[in-house]
Amino acid sequence: MQSTRKLFVGGNWKCNTTLEKSVNLVETLLNSLSFNSAKLDVVIAPIFIHIPALKSGIKNAVQIAAQNCSLTSQGAYTGEIAADQIKDIGIDWVILGHSERRSYFGEDSELVGKKVKIALATGLKVIACIGEKLEEREAGNTFDVVKNQLTAINKEVSHEDWKNIVIAYEPVWAIGTGKVATPEQAQEVHEYIRKLMVEINNSEIAENVRIIYGGSVNGKNSSELIGKEDIDGFLVGGASLKPEFADIVKSCDSN
Ligand code: 13P
Repeated sequence: MQSTRKLFVGGNWKCNTTLEKSVNLVETLLNSLSFNSAKLDVVIAPIFIHIPALKSGIKNAVQIAAQNCSLTSQGAYTGEIAADQIKDIGIDWVILGHSERRSYFGEDSELVGKKVKIALATGLKVIACIGEKLEEREAGNTFDVVKNQLTAINKEVSHEDWKNIVIAYEPVWAIGTGKVATPEQAQEVHEYIRKLMVEINNSEIAENVRIIYGGSVNGKNSSELIGKEDIDGFLVGGASLKPEFADIVKSCDSN
């Protein structure tokens, strides 16, 4: 079943690196990756202002994502970057709803849903992040949290739009903590999400949507995680800035 879905490895660089270091990562790490781009998307998300320099330096099929976009269109909105301005410079992807934006910048599920709609309307593809906090998991609310976050997005998009959305399940307690979800814990939630997609959309959409895992993925745990039926790839934070990102890509390329 999994074989019909193209795998996906994202590298979320977050608010890290200088321009020099970013360019160096492209030259030494990304340009030496070789993978079958018909079967695997590799997408890195640097900070906005590094994108033009990195885009021109990438020599293979690695793609670039923005880490956010504005809820507004172009106009008098100081400090914002509109979705169509991202598309305008030749970028095809945007990460939305990351837990760091939800917790540190007050983005709630309703706003995330609206941003997803705007991004899709401009022709961007979306990596939509959802995931529960530790206290929510401990209270037994993981499925409810994930359901609420996903239905808020689903409310704003059409069936057709789901072709352009990758769902990133990122349990907040596993992000940047070194505490990776076990393959079984991740699979359990991915399976739930896929079933939920049948319920709120239909089985074709559920079967085709890519559900990737994020949270302390590294060169050592990626092979086992990617072996799970409903895990279609990763959104990698810390390890995407290190040589082991190549091992993560390789674990998916050879899967
Ligand atoms: P880490 O891989 O550093 O845990 O971060 C995951 C993440 O937030 C990716 O978006």
